[in-house]
Amino acid sequence: MKEVLLLEKSRHVPAEEILRQWDFIRLMREENDARIASGRLPLVACTRTFGCQQNENDTERINGMLEQMGFDFTDSPESADLVLFNTCAIRDHAEQKVYGTVGALAPLKKTAPDKIIALCGCMVQQPAVARTIRSKYRHVDLLFGPHALHRFPENLYRVYTKRGCVIDNEPSDGMIAEDLPIRREDKTRAWVTIMSGCNNFCTYCIVPHVRGRERSRDPKAVLREVKELIEAGYRDITLLGQNVNSYCNDLEIDYDFSDLLREIDALDGDFTVRFMTSHPKDASEKLIDTIAAGRHLSHHIHLPVQSGSDRILNLMNRRYTREDYLKLIRYAKERISDVVFTSDIIVGFPTETEEDFEDTLALVREVEYDGLYTFIYSPRKGTPAAEMEQIPDEVKGNRYRRLCDLQSELSLQANQRLVGTVQTVLVTGINEKDPSLCDGRTDGNKLVHFPGNYPAGTTLSVRIDRAFNWGMLGSVSEA
Ligand code: SAH
Ligand code: SF4
Ligand code: F3S
Repeated sequence: MKEVLLLEKSRHVPAEEILRQWDFIRLMREENDARIASGRLPLVACTRTFGCQQNENDTERINGMLEQMGFDFTDSPESADLVLFNTCAIRDHAEQKVYGTVGALAPLKKTAPDKIIALCGCMVQQPAVARTIRSKYRHVDLLFGPHALHRFPENLYRVYTKRGCVIDNEPSDGMIAEDLPIRREDKTRAWVTIMSGCNNFCTYCIVPHVRGRERSRDPKAVLREVKELIEAGYRDITLLGQNVNSYCNDLEIDYDFSDLLREIDALDGDFTVRFMTSHPKDASEKLIDTIAAGRHLSHHIHLPVQSGSDRILNLMNRRYTREDYLKLIRYAKERISDVVFTSDIIVGFPTETEEDFEDTLALVREVEYDGLYTFIYSPRKGTPAAEMEQIPDEVKGNRYRRLCDLQSELSLQANQRLVGTVQTVLVTGINEKDPSLCDGRTDGNKLVHFPGNYPAGTTLSVRIDRAFNWGMLGSVSEA
């Protein structure tokens, strides 16, 4: 029996409600047991995630609930009794991908009407999208938003026993649900969601509209989960939140994200901790000092800048200036000699001029990021930027290519600087295309391929022999 944590009631889904969901898990398990007793196979689920790591982590919770219900798992929708897509609303492209994939299931549902098709996640939380799915994708049986994740057992049981469509996407500022089971994808690397929601309302972004306000998990609950992961042999742990730097700002306690990092760092074991994402307006020198002093804290910092132009940053409501950002980068480079920075950048934000864009290019050159996630601005209904003056698609496309070309050059240079050095590399698995190679990640989270056959989770010293813009080739210098 797990130690029972005394969690503040007002922010948490009540324990009785979680226990009620466990009852539905048991009822589904009985359905599966009855199938097995009558000589049939247990139910099979095919789940797929679109979007960010937080969504990946949510799917791991869904898979955990399904596993407890006795489900088996498959990658093929054809052979599954339940097909579930956890969706993302961040850009139009992400939504179109989901519509395409769901649309393609219609013929399958015709030939196998008992197959349950479920859609969940951020797209479903938007009422207009849920309506579109109801009217145009009538083969979908279950729709639920991120706030209803913990009610999945009850909703699935309703669909399974009564059929008909179930929709659970009431708006909410959200509650924290502890003690849901989890089935993790990887045995070496794990996600730990430390907070949900976002209060920042960047003018382009849909996340605060679909994920509700910031809610921090209790530090005791986070520490317990991290300890369990270390004990279970996980080597690489990523703390997740839309803005981890405001961790605990919603609680009336004198405790912040750096304090959490320090407490995790004090745990013994062979592990590395990373985090995503850090909002520059709240990233502090204290945070950098904590990382510099850490034993287990990765020197890779993902710090999304979005734009290098003060005018655009202001229109985006990011609440920092280019100089604030660069000051923090300079401080980190002084304090942590091997710090690695990556970032997110949006090109083609409304009214962005050539001069604004050149400010972004100059900032990218100055920081010398090791890698960038680059996005073409996509208007999201209901956000202020969607109402601003848009710029033509060709201009956006052209800027996007120029930024990618620059980053590709910088990534190559950053990787070339490591040629001849020996890096500590965590093996993540055998290479899919060439089984004579292993895949691994450096502390800076860079991809390395090297000959050999080592189990995932092993730490090796690897000499870097060749550099590319996507990663490096190396050879094991010491196992
Ligand atoms: N909370 C994180 C970002 C989460 S969304 C942060 O603030 O850093 C991941 C990335 O998607 C963002 O950093 C941004 O670069 C991009 N993004 C968000 N909304 C977008 C939009 N409407 N169009 C294009 N890119 C967008
Ligand atoms: Fe979106 Fe801004 Fe919140 Fe990140 S901080 S999730 S970009 S609103
Ligand atoms: Fe997408 Fe929702 Fe994450 S919109 S990026 S899945 S929080």
